[in-house]
Amino acid sequence: KACEDQLIIDAGQKHFGPVSCSTCGMIYSAASLEDEAQHVQYHQRLLEGIRYVGWKKERVVAEFWDGKILMISPDDPKYALKKAEEVRELVDTELGFQQSTLTCPKKTKSYLFVSNEKKIVGCVIAEPIKQAYRVLAEPSSPGSESRDASDRHRAWRCSTAPESAVCGISRIWVFALTRRKGIGRRLVDAVRASFIYGSYISTEEIAFSDPTPDGKRFASSYCHV
Ligand code: ACO
Ligand code: ZN
Repeated sequence: KACEDQLIIDAGQKHFGPVSCSTCGMIYSAASLEDEAQHVQYHQRLLEGIRYVGWKKERVVAEFWDGKILMISPDDPKYALKKAEEVRELVDTELGFQQSTLTCPKKTKSYLFVSNEKKIVGCVIAEPIKQAYRVLAEPSSPGSESRDASDRHRAWRCSTAPESAVCGISRIWVFALTRRKGIGRRLVDAVRASFIYGSYISTEEIAFSDPTPDGKRFASSYCHV
């Protein structure tokens, strides 16, 4: 199999600094056995998790030159739900969520971006909500070394008054090697167009739960354009 060949090639190169795997995107030190072992484990789990074999009945909600978006509803066949669950677990591991459960699995919809190479390279989990708190902009701190570094350590300030909302983005994830190609944007567009049958959700009516720094940068860009 191609992925095994790739692993052997990677392991054979001796680097001293951090290396980035061109298949799974993990950055690790090839000089450390422990790192290498962790990489092999992640590499295999990721490749298995994002593999899409194709289903007889798939619900395509958007099609593009580089892939398509599938929607999975709670009453879909077992195999579809199982795949959505597998991808969610992968995403949760990457986001550092432990043993997380969905608030309302019966109303949750998953959206998967499947590339032409039949890999699931993006995922959004959306759930119905009634209200959300607006994240308030932090005053910029000119003394901090870089915006990125300060972003990672700060807590978001939220407004105290809830505003009405209809759709919560519980998770959004795009495969590390295919980020900044508009996959996240297209996934959220698909959610807005199809989450509630027959109605289009405005950017005001969607909310992102507990965003990471990446998630917050994405959300503020998405909601202001
Ligand atoms: N830094 C700055 N701006 C960004 C970033 C970033 N890291 N990511 C997205 N944006 C902004 C940009 O303005 C971008 O437009 P541009 O590329 O033309 O400048 C715009 O958002 C749209 O970006 P997309 O290409 O559509 O987003 P992408 O496909 O890269 O997915 C995502 C963004 C999902 C946040 C991705 O970076 C990711 O998976 N990160 C790791 C997982 C994660 O942190 N997910 C969010 C968790 S929070 C939650 O789930 C509710
Ligand atoms: Zn790898």
